[in-house]
This record gives sequence, structure tokens and C-alpha cells, in this order.
Amino acid sequence: MMYGEHDLSSLAIFSGSFINYGYWTGAQGDRPITVDERTESQAEMYRQVVSRLEPRLGDRLLELGCGIGVGAAMVAHEFGVMVTGLDRSDEQLERARDVNAEAIAGLPDRLSFEKGSVTDLPVADNAVEGVYAVEMLQHVDDLAQTAREVGRVLRPGGRFATAGFFAPEAGRTPIAELIETVESGIDVIRPVGEFAADLGDAGLEDVRVDSIGEHVWPYFDRWVAQTEYADSWGRNWLRCYENGWIDYYMVTARR
Ligand SMILES: C[S@@+](CC[C@H](N)C(=O)[O-])C[C@H]1O[C@@H](n2cnc3c(N)ncnc32)[C@H](O)[C@@H]1O
Repeated sequence: MMYGEHDLSSLAIFSGSFINYGYWTGAQGDRPITVDERTESQAEMYRQVVSRLEPRLGDRLLELGCGIGVGAAMVAHEFGVMVTGLDRSDEQLERARDVNAEAIAGLPDRLSFEKGSVTDLPVADNAVEGVYAVEMLQHVDDLAQTAREVGRVLRPGGRFATAGFFAPEAGRTPIAELIETVESGIDVIRPVGEFAADLGDAGLEDVRVDSIGEHVWPYFDRWVAQTEYADSWGRNWLRCYENGWIDYYMVTARR
């Protein structure tokens, strides 16, 4: 499996044990982007998503597809909340518990990692004030079921937020010919409107879709251009964005 024995976060396109394309706030001008800035972009993606939940101190949050869990640890620490990081990969969870051992010990009862799939959450009904996901829903087969599960575990008034890539519209595009992980089926690009409709059908309200592509693709492309992947298909994400075949979105809703 993609996130199994190989630690994807160790690839030069990622850093700091995060695995997302990053939300970039500052222009780096003409100088090369530093590894610290790359890591900061991925941490900032977490802040952007979790701030949309408007969490209060002590709120219980569930992260879907937490990967190596450095984002979950940061959220628990910075927002003063309780976070359960969920992932379906045993290897990712082992890495999460290992990398964040100090944070888990330092934040007793506020940070934990659990195995489970987003389509069958190991969480009671009405149990959490917030659910969030960072760049993971592109791996999920059944987004309608995921939306129902999110609706089930959120308390009335609870919030959902996710950032990730989707298609702006339904229809055929050449993305699969340009992006290897789409061609192989690891990443599935679905119309963002379909997912928004899934959330509405699951009983969620105030569903909102905002493009954040301008904060992601041009900078991520500049970063990739600095790495050993400069001549790889990784450069095609920007091309797909510029052609209107893909975008990066913030999707939010309230129960
Ligand atoms: C691109 S990584 C993102 C990790 C993390 N959110 C970050 O930004 O660093 C996607 C993660 O989602 C997990 N995942 C994929 N499908 C899943 C599912 N159906 N249920 C739970 N986790 C899943 C993978 O194991 C992987 O760790």
C-alpha cells in the first residue's frame, strides 16, 4: 500500500513528516525555498483547515487520515483541543506514535492515534465538536458514506473542514495521462460539487467550497522544481490547475 512500508514523507517533495502540498502565505521572491519554509507551508495548511472549525479550548476533534500525526500534535498544542488522529495504515500509526511520543506524553488525554477507515469511523454518535481532513479524501472510494459518517459523529452545531484537491467540474480531462498517481488510481479526482452535495445529503448545513489553489500550486511547483523531481510528472499539477482541470479547495460545513 502507498503509505505502507515506505515513508512517503521522506521524499524530497515533502518535509517535516507532513505529507501535503502546503498552503503558502509568503512570496519567496527569486531565492530558493528553504526546507523550513516547505515544512511551514504544510503546518500552515493544518492551521488554515482547523481555524475553519472555530474550535474552543477543550473541544474534541477528529482528524481523518492523520498520516504521521505531526499535524494532529500541532493542532492539539496550538489550539488547546483534544485530537484523535485516525488512519487506516498500521505503519503510519506506528510512525505517528513514535514521532509524537513526546507530544503524547506531554499532552495527556489530548492526543491519541487510532486505526480506522473514514467510511466506518470507530467513534460514537455525536461525540466530537469538529472533524477535519488534510489532503486525504482523494484516496477515499465512497465520499457519500464518509459524509454520512462525519454527520453521525459530529455533535449538533459541530463543524467539518477539509482541504484537498478536486476537479472544478464533472467531465473528461487528461489528468490521468499527466499525473502518475491518478493514472494508477492512488489519487481519484472527483468534482468538488459532488462532494459538497454529499455533505448536504448527509444532513450537514452551510456547505461552503472555496478555491485556495493560488496558495498551493504555484509555490508547490516552485518547490518541486528545486528537488530531484524537477523533471518529473510532479510538475504537471500546476499545468492541470492552469488548464482548469484540477484545483485545491477548502470545503466546510456545519451539523
Ligand atoms: C496524503 S496523506 C496525508 C497525511 C496528513 N494529513 C498530512 O497532511 O501530512 C493521506 C493519509 O490518509 C490515509 N488514508 C487513506 N485512505 C484512508 C481511509 N479510507 N481511512 C483512513 N485513512 C486513510 C493514508 O494512510 C495516509 O496516511
